[in-house]
Amino acid sequence: MSCQPANFIAGYVVEPGAGSQHGATCTGEPANGLCLGSRSSSTPGAAPAQPLPPFPFGWFAVAASADVRPGQVITRRLAGRDVVLTRLRSGRLAVSEAACPHLGAHLGQGGTVTAGGNLLRCPFHGFEFDLTDGRCAATPRPYGPPPRTARLAMLHAREVLGTILVHGPDRGEPQWEVEEVSTDPDEHWIRLRHNVIRFHGGHPQEVSENSVDLGHLSILHQFAAVTVRRPLETDGPYLRSAYSARLARVPVIGHLNVDFDVYVDGLGFSRVETRLPDLDRFLGTGWALRQLVMPAPTDDGTLELRLAVSVRRPDRRPSWLWTAIAYLIRAAVMVRFRGEVNSDLKIWRHKAYLDRPTLAVGDGPIGPYRRWAAQFYPENAPASAD
Ligand code: FES
Ligand SMILES: [Fe+2]
Repeated sequence: MSCQPANFIAGYVVEPGAGSQHGATCTGEPANGLCLGSRSSSTPGAAPAQPLPPFPFGWFAVAASADVRPGQVITRRLAGRDVVLTRLRSGRLAVSEAACPHLGAHLGQGGTVTAGGNLLRCPFHGFEFDLTDGRCAATPRPYGPPPRTARLAMLHAREVLGTILVHGPDRGEPQWEVEEVSTDPDEHWIRLRHNVIRFHGGHPQEVSENSVDLGHLSILHQFAAVTVRRPLETDGPYLRSAYSARLARVPVIGHLNVDFDVYVDGLGFSRVETRLPDLDRFLGTGWALRQLVMPAPTDDGTLELRLAVSVRRPDRRPSWLWTAIAYLIRAAVMVRFRGEVNSDLKIWRHKAYLDRPTLAVGDGPIGPYRRWAAQFYPENAPASAD
């Protein structure tokens, strides 16, 4: 198949006169078969809004690890239904569907961890479930032996950087994992602080697209001198890139040069590792920031956006002083982080998703990002075990 005309970039219509960018120019049949460019390039301007499927596949944050203490049972919402998070007394976390397989009671509404600490007890008739595989392990009198077919539906869950991630939208076997990150205490990272924003009108793909939409950084967020340090690379569900920018009007310091390394693992978990050379000038070397952006679809069109911030302090004495400064920096970064996200939020809540946007030079690699994102929708995913 021959290449599309010059105004066609990676499946998107580009304003006449705009050149190619970030290697996104269509040079023939796309290798991954996901090219969105099978349409005619003669379509003028942007295509009408076309909603994205509401629940992409991947790992989505539902709580901070500290939200579920040993012996505690809590309910969260993900992909249109309630999920129940149980922390056994051993510290192990398990996540299940809410409905008890006996007669459907909601296990997050009165379910308890048994005195032995290893089973989840339903409040309605007292059946007890083993959370390693969901089987009914015990029934109270007057019931007979546990029915062999009574099996609680378990979901795949992980704890990463103090955050509980659940694989969704269904109970199918995960095909990939969120990348491991060192939590070595010798590296002097302070605990991640979480902050949650719930809003209607958001979608994980639109939130994660922010990390490649370089043009909006200077217009909406007033970052200056945005430059790409590492062009976008993708490897299966992982997307990586790096850029630098300058923040103006920073109290005390004046302006701040920042180097961002962006790690996007699916559409629900983005990690930004930030270095601040100007902060090093004031406080010495060894500082680093880590920000997590974790959009999770709770219901169709409703998003729970979980932000988290951590700071790494230098390995210096007295450690209490540097730890205290790290906590102050974390608080200041969270205020700024929330402010930036609130600017995005005003856009996300009202914007349309354009299947064929009118891209321009300066946009950043939005075309390659969208081709990468297409793998997370059920029609492109491996068959589920459900
Ligand atoms: S509904 Fe749960 S034990 Fe009956
Ligand atoms: Fe943004």
